[in-house]
Amino acid sequence: MDNLAIFAAIMATVDNSVFQAIISHAKEYGFVFPSSEIYDGLSAVYDYGPWGVELKKNIRDYWWNEMTRMHDNIVGIDAAIFMHPTTWKASGHVDNFSDPMIDNKDSKKRYRVDHLIEAHAEKLNAEGKTQDAEALIAAMDALLAKEDFAGLKQLIEDNKMTCSVSETCNWTDVRQFNLMFSTEFGSTVSSDDEDNKVYLRPETAQGIFVNFLNVQKTARMKIPFGIAQVGKAFRNEIVARQFIFRMREFEQMEMQFFIRPGSQKQWYEYWKAERMKWHQALGIPAAKYRFHDHVKLAHYADAAVDIEYEFPIGWKEVEGIHSRTDFDLGNHQKYSGKKMQYFDNDLNEEGKPIGNYVPYVIETSIGLDRMFLLVLSHAYAEEKWTKEDGKEDSRVVLKIPPKVAPIKLAVLPLLKKDGLPEIARELMKECRDDFYCFYEEKDTIGKRYRRMDALGTPFCVTIDHQTKEDNTVTIRYRDTMTQERIPLGRVRETVLSKIK
Ligand code: GAP
Repeated sequence: MDNLAIFAAIMATVDNSVFQAIISHAKEYGFVFPSSEIYDGLSAVYDYGPWGVELKKNIRDYWWNEMTRMHDNIVGIDAAIFMHPTTWKASGHVDNFSDPMIDNKDSKKRYRVDHLIEAHAEKLNAEGKTQDAEALIAAMDALLAKEDFAGLKQLIEDNKMTCSVSETCNWTDVRQFNLMFSTEFGSTVSSDDEDNKVYLRPETAQGIFVNFLNVQKTARMKIPFGIAQVGKAFRNEIVARQFIFRMREFEQMEMQFFIRPGSQKQWYEYWKAERMKWHQALGIPAAKYRFHDHVKLAHYADAAVDIEYEFPIGWKEVEGIHSRTDFDLGNHQKYSGKKMQYFDNDLNEEGKPIGNYVPYVIETSIGLDRMFLLVLSHAYAEEKWTKEDGKEDSRVVLKIPPKVAPIKLAVLPLLKKDGLPEIARELMKECRDDFYCFYEEKDTIGKRYRRMDALGTPFCVTIDHQTKEDNTVTIRYRDTMTQERIPLGRVRETVLSKIK
C-alpha cells in the first residue's frame, strides 16, 4: 500500500465527513501521522508532527499547571512504564482487564462482543426497528452483567449477526481477552511463565499507588492530598479504528487524590465540578460537554462518571472520574506485605488522633491524545464568504484556544528587502522566550495568512514600510480576520495578555 492508500484505509473506517476532514488536515499540516508510515503504518499507533507535538505539549502543560501549581496539596511524579508484575495482580488487571471477544471462524476477524451487538442494534435502528434494537441492547446488558458468555453467543446467533468480511455467522465461543501487552525481562523470564510476565502499564495510576508513601513522606503531605502524573499507557485494543480516539499506545494525565474513608462522596462531587471547569476554561462551549454516569462499574470503583464531549462522531468519553475506594492501596498492602497506611493526627470528636487507615482515593483520568482530538474537533472550521468585490472566498481554519495553540504569533515581513526582515527578526528575538513565534517571508501575505489559519495561529503581525516610519505594525486576528495597527513595542504584551 502506498501512503495515500494507507491514509484512505484509515479514513474508510471513519463514517463521518467532518471527522475525515479533520484527519486529513491533521496529516497535511503536520499534526498527526500514521506510525511507521513507510512500512504501511501500524494499526492504532500514531506519531505527532511538528505542530502536533507543540499542541500536545501545551495541553499537557495546561493540565499539569492546573493540577500541581494551582493546588498546594497536589504534587507530581514520573514513574516507570515497567512495574513489578505483582502490581498488576494486586490492581486486578491480570484477572479483570479484559473484554469478551468472539472470532469469526471463516475470516478470523475478532470482534468485541458489545461492539458487534451494538453495530447490529444500529442497523435495526436505521431500518426503523427501534423497539427490536432497544430489546437487543437490554438483553446484551443483562448477559454482560451476569458474564453469561454462552448466552451472548446465543444472542449473536439468534439475531443472525454476520462478520463484515466473510459475511458468515460461523462464530467461535465468546472468550475473555486481556488488553495488557506483555514482554520479557532479560533472560531469566520466559514468555510463557505467567507469573513473571512484565507488562506495559495499561494505566499510569498504579505508579502513583505504589509510590503513595514515598511521596507522602518526602513531600510532607497531609491528607487530603493528590499525586499527578502524565505518561504513556498501552492497551491491546481490539476495535481501534477511530484515529487517535482509541490507540494502542497513548498518553494519560491522571491524578489520584487520597482522602479519609467516608469523605469520598464529597470529594467525588468536588472533582467532578473542578474537572468540568478546567475543560470549559479553555473557552469550549459548555453545551458540548456532559456527564455520563457509569452503570457497570470497573472492578475498583464504587462510583464513576465520564466527562463526554460531542465529537463529530458523536458523544464520547474524554475523561473519567472514579471513586476507587481503598481497593488499590488495600490490595498493594495485601500483595506486598508492606503497610500502605497513613497516620492521621487530626483530632476526632473525642479529642484523640484519628489514627491509622488506608486512604480512599478519587481519581481523575484524562487521555491526552483524546483531549488533543477534542481540541481539533472544536477548532476545525471550513468558512466561505463573499468579498466586497463580489467574489467568493474560503478558508480552513483551526480556531484553537490561544492558550494551547502550537504557534502563538507569526511574524511576517511584507517584503524580503528594505530592512523589513531585520525588524521582524528583532521582534522574534523579543518574543520567542515567552511564546512560540514563527517567521515566514515566502509567498504573498494572503497565502501566509491562510497557512497560519490552517495551523491555528491566533495572531499574525506584518512588518511593512510604514513600520519603518512610525514603528507600528498590522496585527491580524485569526478568528475574526480583523486587522489593526498597533505599536511594534506592544506586540509582545498583546499576545501575552491573550494567552495567559
Ligand atoms: N486509571 C483509570 C483509567 O485508566 P480509563 O477510563 O480506562 O480509566 C481513562 O481511561 C482515560 O484514558 C479515558 O477517559 C480516555 O481519555 C483515555 N483512554 C483510555 N483508553 C484509551 C485508548 N485506547 N486510546 C486513547 N485514549 C484512551
